[in-house]
Amino acid sequence: MTVSDPTVPGTHRPLPVPFAVERADRIRKERYFDEEFYALEAEHLWPRVWQMACRLEEIPAPRDWVEYTILDQSVVVVRQDDGSVVAFQNACRHRGVRVAEGRGRCDSGFTCPFHGWCYGPDGANTAVTGKRYFDPGNLDPADLDLTPVRCETWGGCAFINFDDAAPPLHESFEPASTMLDAWRLSSMRAEWWVAARLPVNWKLAQEAFVEQYHVVESHPQLVIKNRVVPRDPTSFDPKVWLDGELQYLRTMSVGMDGMIHRSDVAVAERLAAAIELPADPALAMATWDRSLNEAVVSWHREQGHDVPDLDELTTLGFNEPMIYCFPHFIVLPMYSSASQYRFRPLGPEETLMEIWSLTRFPQGGEPECPPVPEVWEHDDPRFPPIPAQDFANVPRQQRGLHQRSFEYMRLSEKGEGHIANYHRLVDGYLAGLPHAALASAQREICVAPLERPVVALDL
Ligand code: FES
Ligand SMILES: [Fe+2]
Repeated sequence: MTVSDPTVPGTHRPLPVPFAVERADRIRKERYFDEEFYALEAEHLWPRVWQMACRLEEIPAPRDWVEYTILDQSVVVVRQDDGSVVAFQNACRHRGVRVAEGRGRCDSGFTCPFHGWCYGPDGANTAVTGKRYFDPGNLDPADLDLTPVRCETWGGCAFINFDDAAPPLHESFEPASTMLDAWRLSSMRAEWWVAARLPVNWKLAQEAFVEQYHVVESHPQLVIKNRVVPRDPTSFDPKVWLDGELQYLRTMSVGMDGMIHRSDVAVAERLAAAIELPADPALAMATWDRSLNEAVVSWHREQGHDVPDLDELTTLGFNEPMIYCFPHFIVLPMYSSASQYRFRPLGPEETLMEIWSLTRFPQGGEPECPPVPEVWEHDDPRFPPIPAQDFANVPRQQRGLHQRSFEYMRLSEKGEGHIANYHRLVDGYLAGLPHAALASAQREICVAPLERPVVALDL
């Protein structure tokens, strides 16, 4: 690992990274529980990346605010009177008390509960109680505001970054950001929101979702016989195959309680009753895909929903069922709708995973933000069936990693390459490489991760 541009300010020799990835397809187990490794992530990774702080419907009105926490850091994200969103460090400039906890509306700004210092909705200090008690040197007005944190809105969410040297958000997430713009992510809204406490490392948690290799064993209900095209094309029956497709759409929709939205399943069922598919398997599949895309788009446009042209997304190569924004934000778009994931470490072996189900509404008819979820344990029976199956695996995996004989995960270089790829980017951050030296690798990571092979990274 080398620092590629010695002219970049702050460039220095890479820091040593314990348990570094030396061979891309082998990931040492200590990366998932070692305290020192976790501390290095807290110091060198999380403070330098764009993090999804909230969905914008959580703060719809001026002066609505929400607290975002990551590790031991807290940021207050506030909607301003002009509709913009700002963020600041949540520590009173007097003696450090958190000025706001949870969420709410700050009609007259924030008042510190300890000695009553006041801050406006933009974090600017507006009052110091008992000024005469202080040496004027401690009351320099330029040094009394809550410390700002970079904040950008995109894709229906507010993102924060503690690092003033990081590239802007859109650039940091390329090409994923361009793909998600094409999906019109920003016009989707949350229908529901759940949160899971998983007794596993945050990387292990997300790795359960970024490959398809596990589907056959972990989600057997998604393996549907009728969808398999027979070897002999003359025995292909388009009606049987189409039954299999509908069964798949229904099973995915129920399994995720969304993602493939029930309204899209209904469109598919109506289309299937009316369509005549050609006898040739390849032609039948292409006809169905195109016709379903068109039917979904026209149904949603009739409802007044802002929905992209799905055939155009296919042409652009953007019609991917999962898009990854390093390090903790994942969107799974399917037809009109999507699931959205956020992962946050709560400890070396504990993760908070949130799932939002997103769909489209007519402009002006968007629903209110779903209630803030109570955090459920990983085995809570209320999770939809598909994530519940994934949640059943990961605690066993985390326990298995502690087995003395087990040293490293061996990854499929074809199907599990995303895991091999993003771990090396994590190492780039832990080595303290400047953003300019990370940029090219970051572009290889913020992509569609499913079926992604191991790629060469310029780090
Ligand atoms: S700590 Fe906030 S006013 Fe004293
Ligand atoms: Fe899964």
